[in-house]
Amino acid sequence: MDQAKAKQEINSLREDLNKYNYKYYVLDQPSVSDAIYDQKMQSLRQLEEQFPQFITSDSPTQRVGGEALDAFEKVQHQVPMLSLSNAFNESDLRDFDRRVKDGLGVERVMYVCELKIDGLAVSLRYENGLFTQGATRGDGTTGEDITSNLRTIRSIPLRIKETDTIEVRGEAFMPQKSFLALNEAKEENGEDPFANPRNAAAGSLRQLNPKIAAKRNLDIFLYAVGQWESGTLTAHSERLHYLSTLGFKTNPEWQKCATIDEVINYVNEWVTKRTNLHYEIDGIVIKVDQLAYQDQLGTTAKSPRWAIAYKFPAEEAITKLHDIELSVGRTGVVTPTAVLDPVKVAGTTVQRASLHNEDLIHEKDIRMNDTVVIKKAGDIIPEVVRVMIDERDGTEKPYHMPSQCPACSSELVRLEEEVALRCINPNCPAQVKEGLTHFVSRNAMNIDGLGEKVIEQLFEANLVKSIADIYQLKRDELLPLERMGEKSVDNLLQAIEVSKSNSLERLLFGLGIRFVGSKAAKTLAIHFETMDQLEQASYDELVAVKEIGDKMADSIVRYFSEEEVKELLHDLKALNLNMTYLGLKPKTEELNDSPFYEKTIVLTGKMKELTRPEAKEKIELLGGKVTGSVSKKTSLVIAGEDAGSKLDKANNLGITTWDEQQLIDALKEKNETN
Ligand code: IVH
Repeated sequence: MDQAKAKQEINSLREDLNKYNYKYYVLDQPSVSDAIYDQKMQSLRQLEEQFPQFITSDSPTQRVGGEALDAFEKVQHQVPMLSLSNAFNESDLRDFDRRVKDGLGVERVMYVCELKIDGLAVSLRYENGLFTQGATRGDGTTGEDITSNLRTIRSIPLRIKETDTIEVRGEAFMPQKSFLALNEAKEENGEDPFANPRNAAAGSLRQLNPKIAAKRNLDIFLYAVGQWESGTLTAHSERLHYLSTLGFKTNPEWQKCATIDEVINYVNEWVTKRTNLHYEIDGIVIKVDQLAYQDQLGTTAKSPRWAIAYKFPAEEAITKLHDIELSVGRTGVVTPTAVLDPVKVAGTTVQRASLHNEDLIHEKDIRMNDTVVIKKAGDIIPEVVRVMIDERDGTEKPYHMPSQCPACSSELVRLEEEVALRCINPNCPAQVKEGLTHFVSRNAMNIDGLGEKVIEQLFEANLVKSIADIYQLKRDELLPLERMGEKSVDNLLQAIEVSKSNSLERLLFGLGIRFVGSKAAKTLAIHFETMDQLEQASYDELVAVKEIGDKMADSIVRYFSEEEVKELLHDLKALNLNMTYLGLKPKTEELNDSPFYEKTIVLTGKMKELTRPEAKEKIELLGGKVTGSVSKKTSLVIAGEDAGSKLDKANNLGITTWDEQQLIDALKEKNETN
């Protein structure tokens, strides 16, 4: 066969296979027999082997490709992947409706109701029509690149007819049947089964070898668009239609609702209908349909104001409480946990439930050996709802907290106005372990491969007793430990090394200073810039910082005055840990004469020198608020090239407008361009 003929044949086979694939995996309507499908796939494989110059990444033969990865790369989301606030009953939904209408100043809003698929949020990026990157949600700002695993999901098209860069978002999930089959196979092999389909889907997509994901029969429903430069549609429902025309799998059950009563009907219908689905849902998502309204309502730090997730009522179950165990947290708080006979609730097996503190145990009159009703709060955290008093047979025993720490036997204390009992021994091993786990955690130093279990292992092996020890671990000490292969040891040491150059706020948060959360750590890092300057700051200097209250200031001064802390910081410095803030710095003292201070600003059109997120960040650092849509409240509209309706609207309303150069000049003047 000559090249031209081969190319033609390859194209025609791909077209057929893509069509069959679409019908089978996206529409659930098989159109040819397996035999025909396999035969065409085989022919295509043979031709591609003969003419490898024609292999392209979007060929149906290339879904499962390449080698296993060493680790996932990080992906920065251009548009944050937010989560949703929750509604648990009809009145929460009516409140949401009121908030939306009041926020918009209108009396009628169109809603779209969708099933809330219980899987894992992912984002798919297409450039020039080609699927180029797939990522997890991660913390909403940074996710992980799981492209090769997502490529194995047959309902994800590798090529679409949209040449604009577009990022679509949806939920990857494992259908119930595949989940049951997978767990059966796992149990046969003597492996631990997955607790629920969501964990199974997440576990499959976090495999470094795409061949494993390929065998897991994952599927996906797309429900949103992230970044899309020149998107012109005006309603969410139009986007859902458009996603289907592009060949994406969207959930067919969505419905437009013109009133909140219609929404409530939809929700109630699905409370019973959900059991008939072949995948799990944990609620209903309600979204404002009009995109202009969505823009106008905007978002809070975590979730959009234009959408809400109705969570189905928590399932309850009855079981026996046969013991109460105690654990000691990072700050010394001793927490009682109920140990239960295993029982299935809302998809997972529950064996433990936090009892929070002694007062709560007595309030609910929970006794050892009681029969108890449990549920999962927000469908996640197991909780004892009440005791079934009628089931008591006299063998139940009231519970009293011990007076000594279960980990180090120090006398426990009850601090003023606190319900909790605390161990105040700073060397209590349980507290030390918890402190180390906190130090390496995601929002702190973010050391991959150092989770709670590994910390426990290192602690028990006497290798890590303090934070500084983490940075002195040696390859030879780690290798003899259980589950520590050459590769994992190298990866771990590498991750530890990388963490040394984290910006100051991560270290600060990781130290676990009382009352200093990750947000306060950032405020402090921005303000004081270096650990030394923070260490020397007085109480007065600290409370002078916006958002730092007296309790926190007090705790910080006390923390840095301790001899052990001074030693620790000295050691960490000697080990080359960065102690400086590395992020952008707002010039707070200059905010008052900033042209953006307390102004509401809209960015529109294409920028040449700055990306939109960059421009937004810089403006915000100078005290401005960047919103999505132009209204009477807008103070300034900055229009790049080809600005459309937003610029027109600004002109109609007589709002000041700037071009990109004016923005850059203003930023330069404020020294914020870099
Ligand atoms: S919309 C900004 N629609 O629920 C809003 N989310 O609690 C983005 N989810 O992180 C989400 N089904 O993982 C949306 N039809 C649906 C959904 C859905 C499931 C998940 C998603 C999200 C979480 C929010």
